[in-house]
Amino acid sequence: MKPKLVVFTGAGISAESGIKTFRDSDGLWEEFNINDVATPQAWNKNKALVLDFYNKRRKQVLEAKPNNAHQALVTLEKKYDVHIITQNIDDLHERAGSKKVLHLHGEIIKSRSTTDSSLIYPIKGMELNIGDRCTRGSQLRPHIVWFGEQVPEMENAYLIAEKADIFMVVGTSLAVYPAAGLIDYTPRGIPKYLIDPGDVKVNGITNLTIIKEKAGIGLSMLAEKLLASTT
Ligand code: OAD
Repeated sequence: MKPKLVVFTGAGISAESGIKTFRDSDGLWEEFNINDVATPQAWNKNKALVLDFYNKRRKQVLEAKPNNAHQALVTLEKKYDVHIITQNIDDLHERAGSKKVLHLHGEIIKSRSTTDSSLIYPIKGMELNIGDRCTRGSQLRPHIVWFGEQVPEMENAYLIAEKADIFMVVGTSLAVYPAAGLIDYTPRGIPKYLIDPGDVKVNGITNLTIIKEKAGIGLSMLAEKLLASTT
């Protein structure tokens, strides 16, 4: 059986594809106020503004392409049972060819019903607009987890992390919980790697190797090393 490699990714892995991160100096949360565009209250107050924010994000994602970091994770599937748990709402892991991808914070290319959260649809084209309705006649919203909402996939993520043989963290500031706490659910003794060009605060994590590089170069190097290792 292949060793289980669990990879926890954030906005930094898509930065080299031209998608802005959230908390870097030129990040999205410098330009927009979370409370205006990414909460249930924002949706209740001004649906058009929220839809416009995510329509712009969707356009950027559809125009972007996977980069070397996404590709490096695909090559690791030759030798590892790779499970990606991503906070990203883009589909660049899937488009690169990764087979097992769990989205914690939703998916920008999908919409869901505002009355029945099990009704999820692919969005055709770039935009979701006022008047776009589910099969039961309710307004559709972006299939995104907003601040203040539950993270329905968290339990599944814990179950995957608990069984990891190797754990990687790539391109996340680890600022948003519960997602950021995932590393605490990994087995103590396993090797862990963190790839990020910035200073990410991690305390009390055993067996952690920090690779202070951008994801493209950092992950390519690490993938080469892991593919060459005999264990
Ligand atoms: P952040 O913007 O908080 O953090 C991005 C991280 O990527 C930082 O640690 C950067 O140093 C790093 N970074 C920048 N360029 C990089 C590169 N080329 N290669 C690797 N790393 C790079 O983004 P997240 O941690 O993903 O949630 O944010 C978590 C959540 O907060 C998001 O899922 C989103 C956001 O608000 C929701 O919208 C619910």
